[in-house]
Amino acid sequence: MKRTLMSLATLCACVAMPLAEGADPAIDAKVQALLARMTLEEKVGQLHQVAGPDMTGPTRPEGKNIDKRADIAAGRIGTVLTVKSVAETRALQDLAMQSRLKIPLLFAVDVIHGYKNVFPIPLGEAASWDMDAIEHSARIAATEAAASGVHWTFAPMVDIARDPRWGRVMEGAGEDPFLGAAIARARVHGFQGKGLGQLDSVMATAKHFAGYGAAIAGRDYQAVDMSQQQLLEVYLLPFKAAAQAGAGAFMNSFNTLNGIPATGNAMLQKDILRQQWGFDGIVISDWSSIAEMVPHGFAADLADAGARAINAGNDIDMEGYAYRTHLANLVRAGKVSEKTVDAAVAHVLTKKFELGLFDDPYRYSDAAREKEVLSRPEHRAATRDMAKRSMVLLKNEGNTLPLARSARNIALVGPLANARRDLEGAWIVQSDAAHVVSPADGVRNHAGKGTRLTVVPGCDVACTDTRGFGAAVRAARDADVVLIALGESFDQTGEARSQTSISLPGRQAELFARVRAAAKAAGKPVVLVLFAGRPLVFSELASQADAIVYAWLPGTEGGNALADVLFGDYNPSAKLPITIPRSLGQVPIFYSYLSTGRPIPETEGQYASIYTDSPNTPLYAFGHGLSYTTFGYTNLTLSAPRMAGDDKLTVSFDLQNTGKRAGEEVVQLYLRDPVASIARPMKELKGFRKLRLDPGEIRRVSFEIDQELLSFYNDKLHWGAEPGRFELMVGSASDDIRLRGEFELSK
Ligand code: GLC
Repeated sequence: MKRTLMSLATLCACVAMPLAEGADPAIDAKVQALLARMTLEEKVGQLHQVAGPDMTGPTRPEGKNIDKRADIAAGRIGTVLTVKSVAETRALQDLAMQSRLKIPLLFAVDVIHGYKNVFPIPLGEAASWDMDAIEHSARIAATEAAASGVHWTFAPMVDIARDPRWGRVMEGAGEDPFLGAAIARARVHGFQGKGLGQLDSVMATAKHFAGYGAAIAGRDYQAVDMSQQQLLEVYLLPFKAAAQAGAGAFMNSFNTLNGIPATGNAMLQKDILRQQWGFDGIVISDWSSIAEMVPHGFAADLADAGARAINAGNDIDMEGYAYRTHLANLVRAGKVSEKTVDAAVAHVLTKKFELGLFDDPYRYSDAAREKEVLSRPEHRAATRDMAKRSMVLLKNEGNTLPLARSARNIALVGPLANARRDLEGAWIVQSDAAHVVSPADGVRNHAGKGTRLTVVPGCDVACTDTRGFGAAVRAARDADVVLIALGESFDQTGEARSQTSISLPGRQAELFARVRAAAKAAGKPVVLVLFAGRPLVFSELASQADAIVYAWLPGTEGGNALADVLFGDYNPSAKLPITIPRSLGQVPIFYSYLSTGRPIPETEGQYASIYTDSPNTPLYAFGHGLSYTTFGYTNLTLSAPRMAGDDKLTVSFDLQNTGKRAGEEVVQLYLRDPVASIARPMKELKGFRKLRLDPGEIRRVSFEIDQELLSFYNDKLHWGAEPGRFELMVGSASDDIRLRGEFELSK
């Protein structure tokens, strides 16, 4: 697969730039003609989404006794979620064809990281920093979903997240807006492929708009309070990239943003999304988030919530029953104009036309195609490729890894040693955990004929019962190398899975300590493998393990991918997309922090911005990840010492593989504006490139810097760059800067 280079300019954060060319005039004419024939009730029906068999949220009282099948046949439902398979979609589409105008249903599913074949959780994929691989993963997920009758995925989730207590950190791309924007673009392109209407594409949804990942104290659905400057510059950047990439839909979020629920937030949905960005797709609520504006204290009742939502730009009501129950009466009472309803319905009908559903409502529901596509071996193979690219080698003392194939006796202990369902993570769709390759399966498949593998879980994931510890210790004592597989179960992250502790569950740390002591007593190395949907706190274990692989939740082929890395069939290349803290007390912690007035080490003595009980630095920094080879960075040059206006300045350097085996490196460009009208971060990621080099190979790498990359929102919320000196840093991680330079931006 060709490795494409990423142009920096395409990732610019400029906001006020119309995006949409507007809908196809031919489709627009058909939409208007259909609208003219629709009753008010039929229009409301197009804005009402209900769930199929799987409920991914609470059932509203208004929905408890509704006959959804009868509603569909009467044209009172426009779209259904969580229905997956040709058989199920055909059956419901048949009902829609009984309605007066025969408007086809839109079928939506949360295809977040795979459909039948499960890819690593999105945070794991983000660790690959490999846009081609990430796009390919979404492409396969889309192909499988579309073959199963699905038109629309509620992905990519592009929420910036800097608090690992939040369970949904697993679903996004980590802490950084620049990386997040690149990944948002790759995922939208992957899902939508050559465009809506292709039989291997699904409509993408950028979610959750907006600020959801900044919930206070990491508690899901909690309030979000942030400056407009932070919102625009950090949290909205990936959404803008998704809109630029042509995402067909946006989903708003459960949280209030500075007191106003996102679902009823006209600043977000109309001013920024529609007016400034020119987005002309569908805006859908999150599950019952319209109705939830009542408990938020923002709406008096369900009718008021419905009026506020549609008047703020929310098109579809997902399982909230606000529109189905009240919207027609709100129009008749003059509280909502029919023009507003028409505009929302037009967004929905336009997508149904673009998907070709009016030509053939069953065009995605072909049983033979479903069978063929879901059985493609290359799809499963792609999950293994993505998984091995996602696993981060955090530590490798004394080149403990890769394991020698000649290892006579390997002990694999720990509660994740035989894991299957746990490796899939949250948000799976049509997979079968029985087909997941466990870590034990993977090591067994890779180890040499003469190798004895002893597998002892020692406890379950919760690890409150220590009776199995003894057997694990004995296995370690007799082994040449000890692998310890620890971490979380699949349902410790995902929606409504926030935790006040992000340490290892139960007594897993104790199991590690006892096994390690036995291994060390026998002079044997210990390799810690962590499976998790979030950054975990494991500082003590990190100091005692000889090698550490952060495997995230790696999906269907997780065990084989892990063994590919452990045995060196694949040279690990992943880098952290999110900071791993030393302790929960450091959270929120991220690399792009401000200096403060008393930075260290510059500030002498105790009156400095420090903790008295911990270093400020994280356990492992954003962008960190090791390889089985090494890379040298030399010979930095700048095309000019200063730039002005539309100039572009080129920074170049030599990257060399200084080790003995081929490998991939993610080179990272960070910039800093040391003096500006508002304090700027110590460094910000402004470019990256993933390159594969053979041993000894030298590659000249260049990044182009333009004013967009130097721009930010000032205290008047004006976007732009300010003249002055800029510092540039090139490195292998945010805390591993290899080359430095500076340049001037002139007036
Ligand atoms: C859930 C999630 C959202 C998902 C939707 C449908 O509550 O917040 O991400 O797409 O409901 O399952």
